[in-house]
Amino acid sequence: MAYKDTYAAWQADPEGFWMEAAKAIDWDREPSRALFDENAPIYEWFSDGLVNTCYNAVDRHVEGGRADQTAIIYDSPVTGAKARISYGELQEKVARLAGALVARGVTKGDRVIIYMPMVPEALVAMLAVTRIGAIHSVVFGGFAANELAVRIDDATPKAVIAASCGIEPGRVVPYKPLLDGAIDLASHKPEFCIILQREQQPAELTEGRDFDWHEVQDGVEPAPCVPVEGNHPVYVLYTSGTTGQPKGVIRHTGGHLVALNWTMKAIYGMEPGDVYWAASDVGWVVGHSYICYGPLIHGNTTVVFEGKPVGTPDAGTFWRMIEEYKIRALFTAPTAFRAIKREDPAGELVKKYDLSSLQTLFLAGERSDPDTIHWARDQLGVPVIDHWWQTETGWAISAIPVGLGLLPVKIGSPGVPMPGYDVRVLDDDGQELPAGELGAIVIKLPLPPGTLPNLWNAEDRYRKSYLDHFPGYYETGDAGYMDEDGYLYIMARTDDVINVAGHRLSTGAMEEVLASHPDVAECAVIGVADQLKGQLPLGFLCMNAGAGRDAAEVVGEVVKLVREKIGPVAAFKLAVVVERLPKTRSGKILRGTMGAIADGRDWKMPATIDDPAILDEITEALKTLGYPKG
Ligand code: COA
Ligand code: AMP
Repeated sequence: MAYKDTYAAWQADPEGFWMEAAKAIDWDREPSRALFDENAPIYEWFSDGLVNTCYNAVDRHVEGGRADQTAIIYDSPVTGAKARISYGELQEKVARLAGALVARGVTKGDRVIIYMPMVPEALVAMLAVTRIGAIHSVVFGGFAANELAVRIDDATPKAVIAASCGIEPGRVVPYKPLLDGAIDLASHKPEFCIILQREQQPAELTEGRDFDWHEVQDGVEPAPCVPVEGNHPVYVLYTSGTTGQPKGVIRHTGGHLVALNWTMKAIYGMEPGDVYWAASDVGWVVGHSYICYGPLIHGNTTVVFEGKPVGTPDAGTFWRMIEEYKIRALFTAPTAFRAIKREDPAGELVKKYDLSSLQTLFLAGERSDPDTIHWARDQLGVPVIDHWWQTETGWAISAIPVGLGLLPVKIGSPGVPMPGYDVRVLDDDGQELPAGELGAIVIKLPLPPGTLPNLWNAEDRYRKSYLDHFPGYYETGDAGYMDEDGYLYIMARTDDVINVAGHRLSTGAMEEVLASHPDVAECAVIGVADQLKGQLPLGFLCMNAGAGRDAAEVVGEVVKLVREKIGPVAAFKLAVVVERLPKTRSGKILRGTMGAIADGRDWKMPATIDDPAILDEITEALKTLGYPKG
């Protein structure tokens, strides 16, 4: 069925639509209905079904004749390692690790934190946790000990599964000291840790608390799949909000299975057996949905790539991967393509490889700029599809669904709403805006299966962050508009979240770190446009009167502090000391105006500004950092 008919079919009978999609999942007990709206505006899907995620992602394929098909391709240009794991082998590995968890007392509902780089064992760990009905929370390796500690305290895990180290180009990142530091900092103490020792830097294990990945599995009984209720959480994934306390996005088992399975064909055009590569990291939602779960649930071959688009060893790595593994769909962030294009603008490396297997390139995670889309399309000769979603939704809100008859692509737009999403654009008063007018993008409740039903331990925050502002709608936090043909355009965030190299970061969290410096009296962090990473954080610092410190020294110290407290992934390297911050008469810092000055965009003097002269000082300070660019 083509897109228009499919969307109309969903509109006409949303529950029937999702019950039909649910038939593609192997349930231990079929759900009696799709939507559970008894606690609206908190909605659930398939709550009374019984089902297991790992069974659907692994075991059913082994039983159904795919035991010898490759489930996971591992390719690690940073270590030189390559491996293939079949569905049959994956089942064995997952059942054994699950057995080790059971033997150490992990049961249904317990949380397990996973802190691992891009190695296949990260997927094995995720699947082993879901196999026994426990709940995983994967933490991205680029986060520092403090961020890990915050997540340990919120998720209160019984166990942590980690690797001894990760590998970044040119350096080994020891994870174990970060893990030890996090456990020291956290008030909650996990009962035990399982550590995957990597030869690049094995770790010292803490006697009685830490167990070696292999030894802990010695002689244990492989664990069977534990069926759980459709509304049992499969995972919690923390994402940046307005403050330093991240939001724990919950995913429920039933809707997650149904929705992701549906997207693999409808959005990505995949048939079971096809090789699908999401070049992201398991620490992000893209990694959860499209490195681990989506492709495996659908019987595809997925790719775990431990490298970067450039420098490992060169800007031809992605093309080498496509040729070597006959990849049919590639999904990555626009930043990756900007990095490749910068190194190989004429596409000399593209020409060296046979890319005939590739059908489509998908981009998401940040706004796709037209230059990058044109370059990618010209070089690869395949449709380039921008699609828009969030950690909260777990799958695309809007896209050009390849499996539903390819609609025309409009450059600059991440496509049209997917079935399940009734997208509207509202003004500040909650009135719907006509086509072409910029406003807050919202989704009429209920959200579809596979999206967040709530935040972990934080229902009030869930309501406040997403539901209260526009009753009856989910507030995406993105601003933009819809054109006459129903295509969406995502223009900016409406909160303090910025997007750095496709990574979602909170300027509020960075401000909390800057403010903790003893010489900083006041501060503000904004996102400034960057040609490679989309945005970069930039900090303004006001020093305490009489601090008597050298400004450059303090800047150096706060840069170091953000790296230590949040992690290298924050990419916080720009800061400047100013006398005062521009504010409204009621004391609100004018971050938006400072951002416009830094980017060289047109801006209007805010009517409520307290002292306009401060903006001249900000303009001068930005010039010292080379902003605006060009
Ligand atoms: N563990 C430890 N450190 C990490 C890390 C990890 N898993 N991931 C990134 N870092 C570090 C990097 O080494 C870098 O450190 P540095 O300041 O010492 O150089 C810092 O965090 C910033 O990383 P990143 O933003 O990735 O920048 P980069 O300069 O290393 O690479 C790109 C730039 C464009 C090549 C890279 O950002 C990229 O591949 N982006 C694709 C985006 C993507 O996959 N997004 C996921 C959502 S779809
Ligand atoms: P994350 O939760 O990390 O996936 O980040 C989600 C946010 O990234 C969205 O709310 C948007 O602000 C931004 N984003 C993701 N995909 C796109 C896209 N295709 N176009 C524009 N912005 C995007």
